[in-house]
Amino acid sequence: MTGHSTYVPKSALARWFESRLPIMGLVHSSFIAYPTPKNLNYWWTFGGIASFMLAAQIVTGVVLAMHYTPEVTMAFDSVEKIMRDVNFGWLMRYAHANGASMFFVAVYIHIFRSLYYGSYKAPREVLWILGVIIFLLMMATAFMGYVLPWGQMSFWGAKVITSLFSAIPFVGDAITIWLWGGYSVDNPTLNRFYSLHYLLPFMIAGVVVLHVWALHVSGQNNPTGVEVKSVPKDTVPFTPYATVKDAFGMVCFFILFAWFVFYVPGILGDADNYIRANPLVTPAHIVPEWYFLPFYAILRAIPSKLGGVIAMFSSIAIFLFLPWLDTSRVRSARYRPVFKIFFWVFVATGIGLGYLGSQPPEGGFVIAARILTAYYFLHLLVIIPLLGLFERPRPLPASIADSVLASRASVGARVAAE
Ligand code: HEM
Repeated sequence: MTGHSTYVPKSALARWFESRLPIMGLVHSSFIAYPTPKNLNYWWTFGGIASFMLAAQIVTGVVLAMHYTPEVTMAFDSVEKIMRDVNFGWLMRYAHANGASMFFVAVYIHIFRSLYYGSYKAPREVLWILGVIIFLLMMATAFMGYVLPWGQMSFWGAKVITSLFSAIPFVGDAITIWLWGGYSVDNPTLNRFYSLHYLLPFMIAGVVVLHVWALHVSGQNNPTGVEVKSVPKDTVPFTPYATVKDAFGMVCFFILFAWFVFYVPGILGDADNYIRANPLVTPAHIVPEWYFLPFYAILRAIPSKLGGVIAMFSSIAIFLFLPWLDTSRVRSARYRPVFKIFFWVFVATGIGLGYLGSQPPEGGFVIAARILTAYYFLHLLVIIPLLGLFERPRPLPASIADSVLASRASVGARVAAE
């Protein structure tokens, strides 16, 4: 699907280089000539936006690392020093902390876009599975990054989540001690989390390269879910069309990001993390960052600790099997009237679980979390497979070009009628 490269090196030096390492030809065929479906909407700009956020996290993170000290008696103070004394240190820290949230916003939209338009279905299964791996790596990175400032929530969050491993029968305690590097969350834990927090973003970047490679093999899906049938009729060259659209999406997203950083930099954080970690004082409510809340609600919904851990990990691992759980031959929700309703119910379930994850695990909250957790699995394991068998999809357009022309014709008719 990668566009045929029409790249011709201009100078003798470029010709010499290209015949030894054809990198400009690769860039040209992947990001300039690459045939892009002509009907992509703005939901398709979120892959580019996520790439931008990954780059922003790496740049701000590398600068923060120059001033941060991964040692339990100094970590908290080194972060305060970054905020007060380092030139633009406050900006780097706020951009990094809010950037993590914005990265998750972009990736959640990207995932739900894929769910809505059936982008995970054949032939894009490997592309999708690489995406799920990226998501898991992102969660691990964000979790370990949150521990580094060594505030109360850093410490107790690390304690709660690492202790989950002790629920594993027979070897659980040994695994937990091995993870901690001692008999509690302490200096060795902070050190290894710092090391891994620096390493993982580069691993994410590596998997993103594979992800985009797989994308260029299968070609992009599009809002109709109908594959490209004719390159000249159904597609446009990536540059300038997709490049300009992606750039516009990135600028809009950046404005939102900047608004958080400059106007409400602490709104997504937890006030308890401005208190130095104290292993002897447990905070009243241990709450993770917002992007973990739905999974935290699933963890706490199950009465047994081991059951909760299994449910939480399964709630993500299940997505690895989604391409095979979904039995429908039609990809896009646009032509699946019943699936479309269930899709929005699933979105509401995720938001509901997120809310419940932020509440104390008692009374009605626990009952509601149990109902929504059951529905979450019901949706993926029962409703999605059955819908493919029983739903009657609407007729698909013959091609992308047909669908574009039909929507233009209907707009024309409406304008004429007015
Ligand atoms: C660091 C995070 C990620 C980056 C930088 C990234 C990047 C991209 C880019 C640039 C595209 C092409 C443009 C687009 O369709 O928006 C894409 C497509 C895609 N991504 Fe991701 N992605 C990330 C995470 C994920 C995750 C977590 C999933 C799913 C669990 C996922 C699933 C997909 C799928 C299925 C497509 C194909 C969409 C289509 O052609 O319709 N990605 N990704």
